[in-house]
Amino acid sequence: MSNPSLLILPGDGIGPEVMAEVRKVIDWFGAKRGVVFDVSEDLVGGAAYDKHGTPLHDDTMAKAQEVDAVLLGAVGGPKYDVLDFSVKPERGLLRLRKEMDLYSNLRPAQCFDALADFSSLKKDVVAGLDIMIVRELTSGVYFGEPRGIIEEGNERVGINTQRYTESEIDRAARSAFELAMKRGKKLCSMEKANVMESGILWREVVTEVGKDYPEVELSHMYADAGAMQLTRWPKQFDVIVTDNLFGDLLSDLAAMLTGSLGMLPSASLGAPMANGRPKALYEPVHGSAPDIAGQGKANPCACILSFAMALRYSFDLGDEATRLEQAVEKVLADGVRTADLLNEEGRTPASTSEMGDAVVAALEASL
Ligand code: IPM
Ligand code: MG
Repeated sequence: MSNPSLLILPGDGIGPEVMAEVRKVIDWFGAKRGVVFDVSEDLVGGAAYDKHGTPLHDDTMAKAQEVDAVLLGAVGGPKYDVLDFSVKPERGLLRLRKEMDLYSNLRPAQCFDALADFSSLKKDVVAGLDIMIVRELTSGVYFGEPRGIIEEGNERVGINTQRYTESEIDRAARSAFELAMKRGKKLCSMEKANVMESGILWREVVTEVGKDYPEVELSHMYADAGAMQLTRWPKQFDVIVTDNLFGDLLSDLAAMLTGSLGMLPSASLGAPMANGRPKALYEPVHGSAPDIAGQGKANPCACILSFAMALRYSFDLGDEATRLEQAVEKVLADGVRTADLLNEEGRTPASTSEMGDAVVAALEASL
């Protein structure tokens, strides 16, 4: 049997730098754990636009559909702000999500012990935090029609449409219930059923799906109240399921509870392929951070932990995923810190590659 395949799309900004560190980790697993991948690399976002005039070439899209998993760095940058909306770097990422039909976006927010002091919230509020946001990723206001900027009378009108079908809500909810079953068996669904019809339908369908998961304690919250509760006492949550836009906002909020956006991975999963593996794309939650790009300052942990999620969710290698997660935890416990994880003056931060090397050394020590 051939090796499982991995398509790497480093993208823009700090994407290529953090991905270089993931390559070290991938190589280590190949050499030391016999976990070998056929790795190919391609362009996405601004990098693809610079070469092809499009943020995602059709050939790259086709490749993404064929491989066992895609690992993406980040897309976007100020240089591309002037581009037409249809070719902006973000469109490349959105096309991947849509055409691969990656409807279930898993965004864990976990507070590493060594970083509990680093959160902007009090330590006892965040210490030990371990929640999972399941964000619907292929529908809602991100993709709903009609959309656009039209002329009406003597002014322009910007239009986007929040739209959800029952089946779209159903499948996102099901993936969240499945996860809740494997975790603390608690699921909180967030929408705005008080003002949006799509929210009313969301609540009804999630409640219906819940009947298939009687062991899971289901609750509902308006998304604004959810944001408030997330900052007030985040440990009340286990799994949260929400739509595309609320999920975008709430996952950044949840991420920051843990101290740094530089630590958080994500998995975007779709339906199973012929080989039983889900269509999958893994990416850090952070963006391309153009302000620090190319300076060796970026924290590669979120991207490294995204590879850990790939090991767990695409390749059924939960033990190896845990090994990698523990290696990252050990590095943090040992006090290795990239600039984003430091607030004391006078300490020299670890560079991107020093952090990557430290993780590989911790992996080595785990043998
Ligand atoms: C995210 C990002 C994307 C989104 C952007 C880059 C299109 O913010 O993955 O959270 O809005 O979904
Ligand atoms: Mg976002």
